[in-house]
Amino acid sequence: MNSTSSDSLKLGVNIDHVATLRQARYAMNPDAPNVEPSLLAAAHEAEAAGADSITIHLRQDRRHIQDRDVFELRRGIHTKLNLEMGNTSEIVKIALEVRPDFVCLVPENRQEITTEGGLDAVGLSEALIPTVKSLQERGVLVSLFIDPEAEQIRAAAKIGADMVELHTGAFANSAIDGGDAEFELLRTAAILAHDLGLRVNAGHGLNLPNLVKLLRVPHLYELNVGHHLVARGLFVGLARSVRDFKALMASYPLG
Ligand code: PXP
Repeated sequence: MNSTSSDSLKLGVNIDHVATLRQARYAMNPDAPNVEPSLLAAAHEAEAAGADSITIHLRQDRRHIQDRDVFELRRGIHTKLNLEMGNTSEIVKIALEVRPDFVCLVPENRQEITTEGGLDAVGLSEALIPTVKSLQERGVLVSLFIDPEAEQIRAAAKIGADMVELHTGAFANSAIDGGDAEFELLRTAAILAHDLGLRVNAGHGLNLPNLVKLLRVPHLYELNVGHHLVARGLFVGLARSVRDFKALMASYPLG
């Protein structure tokens, strides 16, 4: 499941915020003829600009992505679909029906603004094992979104996950260009995950200023980025926002 050195670093574009904007006006009137913005149009624009996958989070409270978005994107996108989700029976059932290319299991708390800490793969392993297995049996590759800690990575490998997504939130929040101590945790975690045969993804809070340092983390396969791409897209357009990000990623691996 590790990437090979000839692979280029991939970018998953999270379009939850596009759904947030749509829901702000049309949550109560989803079938209005003038509903906008279109998630599928956003996904196609991101793909044309270099996105390697489209990421969406179907939350229990359905605050942005709706069930029918998941099915429409599954049918309509040209790249891979990465579904972020909490490990609840209702959402797992939907994932088994949709069969996204990837599922990333995340912790979910109804009060949070976005996903906060990583998943506790150590404490929740008994509940995670059957979910991971049932998704894999349907041909879905499974990732666990975890903090860059050795015990969490070992637990992810033991659970049988295909990949981990290292939580970069602490790195992103600690300095404008990414914190040094937090960078070191990510670097060490990526090496351990790679050594254990896990594909290594990373995401949360990544932006152009902190990407430069993040690219010094070895063994990365895919980055998942949402907020910055959409926020900068308000000024430069989503396509250019994705293109500029991908252009900087092209220097990976750095030395
Ligand atoms: N990865 C995971 C697991 C997430 O929950 C999120 C936020 O939805 C992201 C990546 C993207 O984070 P951001 O929007 O800060 O780029």
